[in-house]
Amino acid sequence: MWNPLILQLVAATFITLPADTPDELDTKIVHALDFSRQQFIRTVNSSGDSLLYFRASGPAGEWSTVPTEDWTSGFFPGCLWKTYEWCEEKLFRSAAERWTAGLESQKFNNRTHDIGFMTFCSFGNGYRLTGNSHYKEVLLQAAQTLATRFNPKIGCIKSWESGKEWAYPVIIDNMMNLELLFWASKNGGPAPLREIALSHAQKTMNTHVRSDGGTYHVVDYDTATGEITKKQTHQGYSDESVWARGQAWAVYGFTMTFRETGEARFLATARKVADFFVDRLPPDGVPYWDFYAPGIPDVQRDASAAAIASSALIELSTLETDAPRQAKYLSAARRILATLCSPAYLAEGTGSAGILNHAVGNMPRNGEVDVSLIYADYYFLDAMLRFRGLQSYRAGE
Ligand code: GLY
Repeated sequence: MWNPLILQLVAATFITLPADTPDELDTKIVHALDFSRQQFIRTVNSSGDSLLYFRASGPAGEWSTVPTEDWTSGFFPGCLWKTYEWCEEKLFRSAAERWTAGLESQKFNNRTHDIGFMTFCSFGNGYRLTGNSHYKEVLLQAAQTLATRFNPKIGCIKSWESGKEWAYPVIIDNMMNLELLFWASKNGGPAPLREIALSHAQKTMNTHVRSDGGTYHVVDYDTATGEITKKQTHQGYSDESVWARGQAWAVYGFTMTFRETGEARFLATARKVADFFVDRLPPDGVPYWDFYAPGIPDVQRDASAAAIASSALIELSTLETDAPRQAKYLSAARRILATLCSPAYLAEGTGSAGILNHAVGNMPRNGEVDVSLIYADYYFLDAMLRFRGLQSYRAGE
């Protein structure tokens, strides 16, 4: 039996400590957010009147830029919106509005599933933070455009255009674009948008997720029969390996799908893909670019996969009903964020114009290896703001 005096002492310790104890990670995150703000001010100011969409930066400090049709075009405006959310400075709102407006034509882009990334990170954040009704119209149109890529026979949205390699490719990344459809179905869009998102998520759960929780990158289908013709990789080490960013997209995508549906099958899948990711991380929490890359531990890490997964794991920890799992996911997210905020990854004091160093775009094609990538920065901001949201909630603010 516990002595009542000891119980009182224990209770007093727990009652007075948590709210007042400064959280070291929170301090690091505030520092990283402030560094991000300074970096983006530099990029916006050096842009003058031009409206370029930034994608990657190396030690020389130059951003590479992309056309508005590129899958990454929404992330720079998305970073500006998230920084505005953090600092509430007018400069960021004006810049975010300008870079967002420049993407409006993409609402009719029916040649890629990436319209979700492009419009939801830009117009989606803009609508969430300002309530601008025009942004809502753009998003509803974009969702309808995305839905034109759905084939009911296959039950999925086509990711990339058909070519020599694939007839009807569906990639694990595509889970991320379902958020636009869920949002649209709740905000005045046609109800079938939700059915399309559900069908795609269910099919992806069955076809891309392996029994151990690892994921395939690309699944290709025969459009005549609806049957799977191959399961492959495009950006990972091999068809049967697990590309780290693909796995991070799966953790984020299935967690988001569980948030939107409350269905147990999606929580089970989110847990499965999250456990695969978390259980195979190196001690500092930043994955190697592929979980089965030959030469581990002497191979490149991928900060983009770490950033995406840290944000997803924070959200999963808030939705999780099982206490030990909740603790596991939050603890993994904290470990990843602590490393990303450290000098080993934060671009502070290095030449890069971005926020995080050491991200990998496409290792097999030697594209954008060990650089800053705008989508790594976007999901890093996403994770840090989510983490701060948790802190405010806990402090009762
Ligand atoms: N589909 C984009 C990427 O993760 O590279």
